[in-house]
Amino acid sequence: MSVEDADASETDAFTLMGRFHNSLSGLQVAQEGIKWYDTGKQIRFGRERIMGNKKIRAIMHGCNGKMGQTISGLIAADEGIEIVAGIDTYDGLSNPYPVFRDIGACDVEADVVIDFSVAPAVDAMLAYCVGKKLPCVLCTTGLSEEQLAAVKEASGRVAILKSANMSLGINLLLKMLKEAAQVLAEAGFDIEIVEKHHNLKKDAPSGTALALADSINEELDNSYQYVYDRSQIREQRGKKEIGISAVRGGTIVGDHDVIFAGADEVVTFSHRAYSKMVFGKGAVQAAKFLAGKPAGMYDMSDVIG
Ligand SMILES: NC(=O)c1ccc[n+]([C@@H]2O[C@H](COP(=O)([O-])OP(=O)(O)OC[C@H]3O[C@@H](n4cnc5c(N)ncnc54)[C@H](O)[C@@H]3O)[C@@H](O)[C@H]2O)c1
Repeated sequence: MSVEDADASETDAFTLMGRFHNSLSGLQVAQEGIKWYDTGKQIRFGRERIMGNKKIRAIMHGCNGKMGQTISGLIAADEGIEIVAGIDTYDGLSNPYPVFRDIGACDVEADVVIDFSVAPAVDAMLAYCVGKKLPCVLCTTGLSEEQLAAVKEASGRVAILKSANMSLGINLLLKMLKEAAQVLAEAGFDIEIVEKHHNLKKDAPSGTALALADSINEELDNSYQYVYDRSQIREQRGKKEIGISAVRGGTIVGDHDVIFAGADEVVTFSHRAYSKMVFGKGAVQAAKFLAGKPAGMYDMSDVIG
């Protein structure tokens, strides 16, 4: 990447920072939204927090799971962040960092916790984060109502970023749909969502499909009803419906189509996840964003702005 890359991605900030560190004295600590200038061109470094030339130290909760291992791989290749400890009840893998079976036993200093574990493990992790004043990127799904209430309460004490889908693409789509809904629902377009997932997925529709529907519905004063099954209804669809359909098969990681169907034209927003990597990349970016943030509830829209 050259200095002329004014669109330098946020994740490239560390590379650039390293490159210019020697020549630009006094820039030991870069801050959010910092702008550097070079040969008259402005380079914007985005919203990630860069803690001087120190790496952000992360604890990986659920480190030996599929996502924990995906993130371990991503972070190993990232100069801006490192995993300083992992937590997992399963200890059959070897990792380049110490792993604790019980989070309460972890005495390693860190800046942020990334969580991809199981719902029952989230309570102890929240208590740990509150006790140690550690921000937390909370990605585990299937939390109970009581746990969601506990998450909200904990967010009064530490920074928590929670999202059922960490993919940047889906989170951008959530925003774009609001604008589309305003224009197209107003013009009488029918709205349908079709999601596809692998044959091991137990729940339907996906949490992401519901989040997409919610994003549209919020923009429409929550005036739309969700319809999941038309097989028992012998009627035309209503105007204020969002139809949500689920397909299950093979190894599909996650497809979502949001269809706005009008008279003689159809607008479709599609997102395809080809691997779990998309969730991992989003989580790593979220961890960089959240380190050092004040208490509060955050989501991926704060990361992508
Ligand atoms: N938000 C998102 O974008 C997103 C994306 C993918 C997965 N997820 C969610 O993340 C979670 C993990 O997904 P996965 O595919 O990695 O699952 P996984 O089953 O492969 O991994 C879960 C890991 O948690 C470990 N674990 C169990 N009890 C624990 C405890 N008490 N403390 C610490 N670790 C413990 C397990 O041993 C396992 O290694 C699931 O809830 C999944 O739905 C969220």
